Amino acid sequence: MSHQESSVISEKVTRVDGPSKVRGEARYAGDQKVDGQMHAVPVLATIPAGELESIDAKQALALADGIVVLTARDMPRLHPDLDNITVPPLATRHIPMQDNLILYEGQVVALVLAPSLALATEAAKLVKPIYRTHSYINPEHQVPQSADPARGNYSGSGPLDWTKGTPDAAYASAPHKVKSIYTQPSRHANAMEPSAIVAHWHDGQLTVWDSMQHISSVQITLAAVFGLSIEDVRVIAPHTGGGFGVKAFVWPHEILAAMASKVCGKAVKFVLTRQHMYNMVGYQPQMTQHMALACDEKGQLAAIRQDVENVTSLTDDYVEFGSAAARSFYACDNISISQRVKRGNINLPTFMRAPWDGPGSWALGSALDELAHEAGIDPLDMRIRNHADTEPQTGEPWSSKMLLECYEEGARRFGWRTRPEGGTRDGYWLRGFGMADCSQGQARFQSSAGLTLTAEGTAHVASSFCDMGTGPATIFRQVAAEALGLPLSAVTSDHGQTGLPAAGPTYGQSTTISTGNAVLMAAREIKAKLAAHLQWPVAETVMEDGCIRRNNERLSIKDAMKLMGMQEIASESTFALPGGAYVDMGAPGRPARSFGALFVEVLVDPDLGLVRLRRATGVYSAGRILNPLTARSQITGGIIWGWGMATMEGSHLDPERGRWISRDLAGVPIPVNADIPADLDISFVEEFDHEAGPLGARGIGELAATGVAAAVGNAIFDATGARLHDLPITPDKILGALRLV
Ligand code: MOS
Repeated sequence: MSHQESSVISEKVTRVDGPSKVRGEARYAGDQKVDGQMHAVPVLATIPAGELESIDAKQALALADGIVVLTARDMPRLHPDLDNITVPPLATRHIPMQDNLILYEGQVVALVLAPSLALATEAAKLVKPIYRTHSYINPEHQVPQSADPARGNYSGSGPLDWTKGTPDAAYASAPHKVKSIYTQPSRHANAMEPSAIVAHWHDGQLTVWDSMQHISSVQITLAAVFGLSIEDVRVIAPHTGGGFGVKAFVWPHEILAAMASKVCGKAVKFVLTRQHMYNMVGYQPQMTQHMALACDEKGQLAAIRQDVENVTSLTDDYVEFGSAAARSFYACDNISISQRVKRGNINLPTFMRAPWDGPGSWALGSALDELAHEAGIDPLDMRIRNHADTEPQTGEPWSSKMLLECYEEGARRFGWRTRPEGGTRDGYWLRGFGMADCSQGQARFQSSAGLTLTAEGTAHVASSFCDMGTGPATIFRQVAAEALGLPLSAVTSDHGQTGLPAAGPTYGQSTTISTGNAVLMAAREIKAKLAAHLQWPVAETVMEDGCIRRNNERLSIKDAMKLMGMQEIASESTFALPGGAYVDMGAPGRPARSFGALFVEVLVDPDLGLVRLRRATGVYSAGRILNPLTARSQITGGIIWGWGMATMEGSHLDPERGRWISRDLAGVPIPVNADIPADLDISFVEEFDHEAGPLGARGIGELAATGVAAAVGNAIFDATGARLHDLPITPDKILGALRLV
């Protein structure tokens, strides 16, 4: 594609869904109303382990007419077709209300239906489950075990154990070395819109309005649950109010709502409360990462070890691949990683922005800073010295990587080389400076998009992708507008439902890099068809300013279509992956990642332990930037998310009762505007990734959430001399460490 000055791509276009959201017109899943619908409220187990002996629903049923209390006995059994559905897209093999076993606190034991939400809520409080208690297994206290791939489908996710070279020997003989353990608590996603579904079973078919990240996953999974054909399940999701991974897969509440609709013969609306979001969908697991790094006198890495443990449920092995960092970030001849799980009575964790590299970059980015200090080398020089010119695990060349340019530009903008000495005072505050690498792997998914050009000179994009508020509905119109030479206002789009060309999932910052390429390919096909009709060589044909042109011959789209006697030209394109794969992690032989360098200045109150983010400079290498406004918003969100991970967030388990102690936004603090400087310094290097796809773009959605916790921890060390190994770095930990320094 030519890089024209007037390009619609690369312009700061505001989101097409913005006005409808600001006006309150956007309809989310929970906003849907179906005549006669029932509201569902779950009754959740109050014990973490045991059996349900009986349920007394008399009082609940006596509250009013029209109340239904569903128990395991009332629910349909899962159809054997579900055995053919893998995990993912099914989030977990353990679907509640199929038997009496209770495996975690907050497991659904009954579902109360009523014509109003208030009535269902009241009735649910009156349902009395009787339990037999089993002994509780606290996952955080278990001995780490090998993960079992049969208990979760992680093919292609990365090895559970992997070694290159001789890391132990290299570590032993190196002059500089560090060994440390990094820990972090479980964290919940807290998406703005809690998960919600309206399920309507009618005439042997199922329609659901759902809050999700992938239409097809919900469709095929719900079809399998009931043994329906795919066509009998309709899925609609015009808006998703944030996902962060927690809406990536199909969770039990979606299945239970559909079952309840089938049983009661009415539509069932099931909107999770903020509290339900802590037990009924996934979260990022509590992790322990054992790091061992060594380098020579010049700072060249001699050995990297990253041994990672995470908690998981008793039924499924969710593996949080923090070790992706050791396998991919730095050039090193001797690398060793392992992944272990600790099983217990807890609901299942899942992917959460940024999975793998988020936790991985915290441990590795902090340990590398420790090593740099031990070796007396500037942390930036340490990174430049160990830059991975090729992918460390395979030795293959990157699709494109401009991290060195990010370092240089970031250091210049931030003033890294001329920064004041760490620990100097600014008034009352101790100042500290830190930096870290940002990096997130790329997944590309097979994705289709349709495009129609009309004789009126308008175009329409159609694809089933979900827009979680990140901007694909906007960007794909930009892509179509530029490729067809139309103004953005002439392009409309439809997305977020079955019946449209099937897009891949919005996981792993993959939608732009996947569906975006399908849109561009469809536009190119339309141009080729037009050129063929005009008998012009396509290479000489240009579409611009509402016209189609070849040298000095120029026709408006309207005239060209009239000339050909056509009302519209349609095309559907599939961004297919080599070998017919559904997903790959970069182009073949060309591993793909997005990269960045983050520099932060923090202030620490030496008496109160308060820590403040004074400024941050992030420079990112993510291929071509399609919309600088939505890209900046993504990065801003990532940095804020990272600040929360670094200094605030944590979901803690009651060690006796296996309960999440806090299940709301008061008990689990997340950053607010006052925590974040207004002028985050965010920029991108000029780049076009030819290997990632014809658009030249890579994903950025999860990139900026990586590296932040390490940069912040490194800056706190710079300010105070105290190295904090346990997230979040809260005032109590800072004060505790300052007493020891
Ligand atoms: Mo993302 S956590 O892969 O939705």
